[in-house]
Amino acid sequence: MSVVFDRVVVEAQGSRLLGPVSVSLTQRRIAVLGENGSGKSTFLKAAAGLIGPQYGSVRVAGHDTIDDETDVRRVVGFCFAEADAQLLAGTVGEDIELSVRVAKGRNYPQTTAEKVLQDFGLSLSTQRACHTLSGGQKQALALASVLTAQPTIIVCDEPTTRLDLRWRRDMIDVLCALQQQLIIATHDLDFAVLCDRVLVIDDGLIVFDGNPEAGVAMYEQLCDSRPSRIPRGCAAQQVRDEA
Ligand SMILES: Nc1ncnc2c1ncn2[C@@H]1O[C@H](COP(=O)(O)OP(=O)(O)O)[C@@H](O)[C@H]1O
Ligand SMILES: [Mg+2]
Repeated sequence: MSVVFDRVVVEAQGSRLLGPVSVSLTQRRIAVLGENGSGKSTFLKAAAGLIGPQYGSVRVAGHDTIDDETDVRRVVGFCFAEADAQLLAGTVGEDIELSVRVAKGRNYPQTTAEKVLQDFGLSLSTQRACHTLSGGQKQALALASVLTAQPTIIVCDEPTTRLDLRWRRDMIDVLCALQQQLIIATHDLDFAVLCDRVLVIDDGLIVFDGNPEAGVAMYEQLCDSRPSRIPRGCAAQQVRDEA
């Protein structure tokens, strides 16, 4: 499996969000690091064919994300950073069925939602309303729904960001055990070092590409080299000074 960016530029409202980026992603697990607003989600969405590119091309398992949109949708599954954005149906069962229908069209496999939940190890009733789930349950259901469509490439945007320690460990275990190619954006540096390759994105450009430990170290140096974003003299500082 591969995702190949060739001189990709993504723009929105006259601004360049990403690129130019040329990179070939073939490793099993790839982590994308970068500050907030650096372009990680844009990169992931472009990799999954959800946006752009305005210039250049992205090929997913050989399919162009613009010309072969239907093939790309069949091959790649995307988990949004906000699970709420992903859970579109009212109940757990409906959500799983919907995901499969969207990905597979008319010929979707006759998988029951109960079996999906069982296979994934999620003890949830199919009748349960999605909005009543905890953050971890939502994230896990979103991933289970995506996997039901049997994609060969999974793209996950910050899969552990809002999770408690137990859910985080479970999510990392599940994602690392997947046979599919996995591309994640994350602020979870411990998760990043478990991957086979790390990219660091800064201001829409890939500024590091290689070994995970070296990538994490480079990202830490990048953050260390930049000034605080909360200005001195802010309210919290004044309270401390006066105390
Ligand atoms: N639809 C959009 N229109 C204009 N700007 C956008 C849009 N989406 C994202 N951006 C901007 O593009 C930059 C990169 O965003 P994003 O890829 O979401 O970064 P990250 O995921 O690293 O936080 C940010 O400055 C963000 O504000
Ligand atoms: Mg993001």
